[in-house]
This record gives sequence, C-alpha cells and structure tokens, in this order.
Amino acid sequence: MAKDHPVTDPVAELRANVSVPFERARAMPPSVYTSEAFAQVELDRVFRQDWFCVGRAGSLAQPGDYMTCDLAGQPILVLRDADGGVRAMSNVCLHRMSTLLEGRGHTRSIVCPYHAWTYNLDGALRGAPAMGLNKDFCKDAYTLPAVRCEEWLGWVFVTLNPEAEPVAERLRDLEELVGGYDMTNYTETFFEEHVWNTNWKVLAENFMESYHLPVCHAGTIGGLSKLEDMICPPGLPAFNYHTILKDDSLRIAMAHPSNTRLKGDERRMTFLIAAYPSLLITLTPGYFWYLSLHPKGPGQVHIRFGGGMSDDYADDPDAQQNFFDLKTLLDEVNVEDRGCTEKVYRGLCSDAAQPGHLSHLERPNYDFAQYLMSRIEGAT
Ligand code: FES
Ligand SMILES: [Fe+2]
Repeated sequence: MAKDHPVTDPVAELRANVSVPFERARAMPPSVYTSEAFAQVELDRVFRQDWFCVGRAGSLAQPGDYMTCDLAGQPILVLRDADGGVRAMSNVCLHRMSTLLEGRGHTRSIVCPYHAWTYNLDGALRGAPAMGLNKDFCKDAYTLPAVRCEEWLGWVFVTLNPEAEPVAERLRDLEELVGGYDMTNYTETFFEEHVWNTNWKVLAENFMESYHLPVCHAGTIGGLSKLEDMICPPGLPAFNYHTILKDDSLRIAMAHPSNTRLKGDERRMTFLIAAYPSLLITLTPGYFWYLSLHPKGPGQVHIRFGGGMSDDYADDPDAQQNFFDLKTLLDEVNVEDRGCTEKVYRGLCSDAAQPGHLSHLERPNYDFAQYLMSRIEGAT
C-alpha cells in the first residue's frame, strides 16, 4: 500500500516540538530542515532580522581591504574605508545592477566589472565612462546604499534590519561570560569558504553538541573527548554554549603563562558558543576557530570558516607551528563533520525520518529550537 504523505506545516510542527519541556524533548521535525517554504520563512524572519557575522575586523587591516557576503539574498560588501572605519554597503552597481566585488581582497576603489562605473571606498560614485551625453546623469546623485555594520570584540556583523538592537547589547551576557578570554585579542590566520550538502541548522546543531565527538570523530579527536567532561547549561536569549575541559596534551588550548586574566579551570576550558542565528565559535584560551553559516536553500549551507591564535602566543614561534598542525587536524575533523551532517540531511529527506529524544548533552539544540520558534513567531 502506498505510504500516505500528510501535508506538512513546518511552523506548526516546530511550535508543537518546542512546547515540550527539555526533559522530554525531541529533535526538531524533518520538515523544518527540508521544506522550501520554511527556508524562505527563515530568510525573512531570521536572516533578514538578525545580525550576521562576516568575519574578523583584523582581516580588514588596511583601507581598501574588503570582504563580501550574500545576506538573505542581498549582496553586501564590507570594507575598511579611507578614514580607517569598517563600513558595509550594497554590493550592487547603480548602473545596470551587476554585483561589484567578489570574495575577499584589496582594492583602491570599487570598479564595476561590467562597464567600469567606479566608486570610492565610501560608496560615492567617482566616475563613469561615456556618460557625458545623458542630460540627466549626475555623478553626485549616485552613492551605494549603506548597510548597518557593527564591530564587537573583533567580530564584524551586518544586518538588514534598521531596528535590530546593537550587537554589544544583544551579546552583552556573552561578553560577560567569556570576558577573561578577551576575544578582541585573537588574530585570524586562515579564512575559507565552503558549501556542504546539508541544511544550515544541521551543521549549527552539530556544532552545538559534543555528544557526537567520540563517535563521529573516532578517527581524529574522538578518543580525547569524554562525555563526562562536557557541561551544557541552559542557553540565553541570544546564544547558547557548552564547555569542555581540556588537558594539557595540546599546549595551545591552554592559557599562555603570561595570561593573568583567566583563573582556575578557565585556563583549560574551551567554550563552544552558538551566537544566533549562525555564528559558531570554538574559543580556547590559546586559539579560536569559527563557522558563520548561511542557508543556500534547504539542502545546502554556505560556510565561512576562519580561525587563529590568541595574541598571547604571538611571540611564540612553536605555538604558531602548533596551530598550523592543529589546522591540519581541524580539516580532518571537518571531513568527519561533513560526512555526518550530510548523512543527517539525507536521512531527514526520507519518509522514515522521525525525530528521536534528545540527550542531556543536546541542551543547546533545544535552546536553538526555542530561539528559532521565537523568531518565526515574531518575538524579538
Ligand atoms: S552595471 Fe555596473 S557599470 Fe554597468
Ligand atoms: Fe564535529
């Protein structure tokens, strides 16, 4: 007999899913990951409303250094301007609307790749070839529209929402929680972009729980990961986190001897932070790495992946080598995560997909579902 396919309503299913207390909670329903309509709702209610992290301010060191992103379908460029400030603007030409810059790089001005209309770093049109005969054309009337952009502890965020509360307010509790780590004091040494075949939430949730480490990462870091050393407190409105205590087998995961900010267990504590919607930070006293995720439809995720070391280690050449070795390991770990998260997406798309109960080590996943529902329902 043919299987009956009920019409799914992902929002209603998610509402029912998050109405259960954590002690009885299940994973989010499959439709929340696989539905095209829900993916559109997320763009409108999540990615158009919240702050999105494009990377580290230190990677825009010189005037003219830039990076680009697509946020909820809007091409945006972020750059260090001539006055030394970080600013964001539309990455769409004001002539026949080509996109302007791509990826990351350095430029003295923003030159459109189509007909070379050329903009200053503040977005004002500097010049346009062969436009003198159009009687209405006035160069001064053209400036690339600004996009809200804020720096916070070395991170650069953009938003399309003029009403969004400032990042520093939204993440104030996080700043307090990890104040001793002084995130401003970390320098990015690598940045990559990837696309994986999974829903962005599957990857975000994978990051939020370390329950999978012993198994999914059996080939790399799994043996070092003890479930009993993981602490998963309830999340806060704008982020969730859990912590792992590391031993000193990896020196650069420990606080540098010159670091007097961190005390006691914090000197060997790794924070895994999920700042909603999609900035995922692994923060150790010695190094950090992060993912900033954006959906590409329900079935793909665009990943901004960067990291580096605490400046406490800047004068320690061995540590830089250790970090380089760690990056090689991280790449192997990522191959494992890619395998697991792409398998989850394939499973989610099957008729057999049924959400099971959550472990106490998946508390952050529960909090993430609550956040998602609050955004979809329009709460701030
Ligand atoms: S579209 Fe940019 S110069 Fe023509
Ligand atoms: Fe993982």
